[in-house]
Amino acid sequence: MKSIVILISGRGSNMQAILEAKLPVKIAAVISSNPNAVGLETARQHCIPAHVLNHRDHETREEFDTALAAKIDEFNPDLVVLAGFMRILTQGFVHRYNGRLINIHPSLLPAFTGLNTHARALAEGVKIHGCTVHFVTPNLDKGPIIVQAAVPVLPGDTEETLGARVLEQEHKIYPQAIRWFAEGRLTVTPDGNVILHDQQTVDMALISPWEAQ
Ligand code: GRF
Repeated sequence: MKSIVILISGRGSNMQAILEAKLPVKIAAVISSNPNAVGLETARQHCIPAHVLNHRDHETREEFDTALAAKIDEFNPDLVVLAGFMRILTQGFVHRYNGRLINIHPSLLPAFTGLNTHARALAEGVKIHGCTVHFVTPNLDKGPIIVQAAVPVLPGDTEETLGARVLEQEHKIYPQAIRWFAEGRLTVTPDGNVILHDQQTVDMALISPWEAQ
């Protein structure tokens, strides 16, 4: 069975969705960069070893990432899962876990890389928003896309209501992506596209705004 390590910094709701999805993987450890992360307690409630590696105890990004890699490697995971891990990772770290480091981002990439994605989506007036699970490469939020979920932007939406609608989908697609990885069904092509093997294709569309005829 493949094993994973999950990195968090805060609330940990994606981590919780992964723990509760009963995936065919061993969750070897949860590591938090923040000693006060709520997710640490959630992990412990699920009997998952939860560790803290406080980024404030390290002077440079390089030092922190070296310590982080050493901690991760104690568990020898097949996959490292960033779940609300609020640190920009060094190139060395990303290269070390090439092809086995994934992230969830709260937008339909390549739109809205970076922070405050829901507020920016509202400001731009987009009608469809969503979330993306992708492999991590040195270019922030630019790695090969594994899966995306789209939601409508509804009249009267605020950052909070839109964010909650997106988060609900995050909790579905992140466990799904890990399941596919565990099943060995993901391949990254040389030009950086992800193939899902043995896929049951469905042709569907989300149209927004939509009115019943
Ligand atoms: C999520 O919105 C995720 O997309 C982003 O950070 C947030 C983490 O939330 N990367 P949680 O800690 O998983 O609840």
